[in-house]
Amino acid sequence: MSLRGKVAVVTGGARGIGRGIGLRLAQDGAAVAVWDVDGAGARAAADAIAQSGGAAIACAADIRSPDSIAAALARTRSELGSVTILVNNAGISGFCALLDLTEEMWDRMMQVNLKGPFLCARAIVPDMLAAGWGRIVNISSSSTQSGARNMSHYVASKSGVAGFTKALAMEFASKGITVNAIAPGFVDTPMLRGSPVNIEAAAAASPMGRPGQPEDIAAACSYLVSEAAGYITGQTISVNGGRYLL
Ligand SMILES: NC(=O)c1ccc[n+]([C@@H]2O[C@H](COP(=O)([O-])OP(=O)(O)OC[C@H]3O[C@@H](n4cnc5c(N)ncnc54)[C@H](O)[C@@H]3O)[C@@H](O)[C@H]2O)c1
Repeated sequence: MSLRGKVAVVTGGARGIGRGIGLRLAQDGAAVAVWDVDGAGARAAADAIAQSGGAAIACAADIRSPDSIAAALARTRSELGSVTILVNNAGISGFCALLDLTEEMWDRMMQVNLKGPFLCARAIVPDMLAAGWGRIVNISSSSTQSGARNMSHYVASKSGVAGFTKALAMEFASKGITVNAIAPGFVDTPMLRGSPVNIEAAAAASPMGRPGQPEDIAAACSYLVSEAAGYITGQTISVNGGRYLL
């Protein structure tokens, strides 16, 4: 599935799932802009892409900030060209019982996980409209399907992403732009390793008996941003090893 000639922005591409997606899209031929609040990590990820023969730049960008997004987009356009693939992957997680959840915790979760994808899409969609072609993939979560104890703010933010995906899909379906979501199950990343989830136990309890890897999510993303997936929009693809069946 060749993405040659396309420019992709992958938010949160410094590590974990986003790093895997950046590597995969570059392998498919796209020039990749790795946007991450962790600038050093973004550079390391872009270097890894270059070492594997791909084209990439790194931008230190905080997706909560329209100014930061505008600066990253200006650099991406001038160094790589117009952007027609956006992967809204950057996110944070959190575990807190409802009665201990502060407004600050709630607001921060919404700002990164829900407002960030809105701000990135609003900034980049004009490039897609000009090209008459675009692909947006939002990374949601299987927790929107199953629920998750002590994660009400996280699950609410990711459920917002699922609804945002459907609304954008309808809005831009006639413009050559598809908008889909991927709902990962347990994926072995720094986020999950830093959480109270026992990844080995969760994996053992899942039908496939193993955790997901960033490459599993990247493979689905590679398909959704390809030409071949042009008739798929507004969908959530579950990549969860059978953990949750719709
Ligand atoms: N790992 C899992 O099991 C799992 C499951 C379901 C969904 N997800 C989702 O997948 C996505 C990637 O998760 P991961 O496990 O790779 O996480 P991770 O924490 O390992 O990586 C997330 C990346 O996002 C970046 N980031 C955070 N806030 C940012 C901001 N404001 N601006 C720019 N970059 C920012 C971080 O610096 C980091 O590089 C997230 O949206 C997460 O919610 C993960």
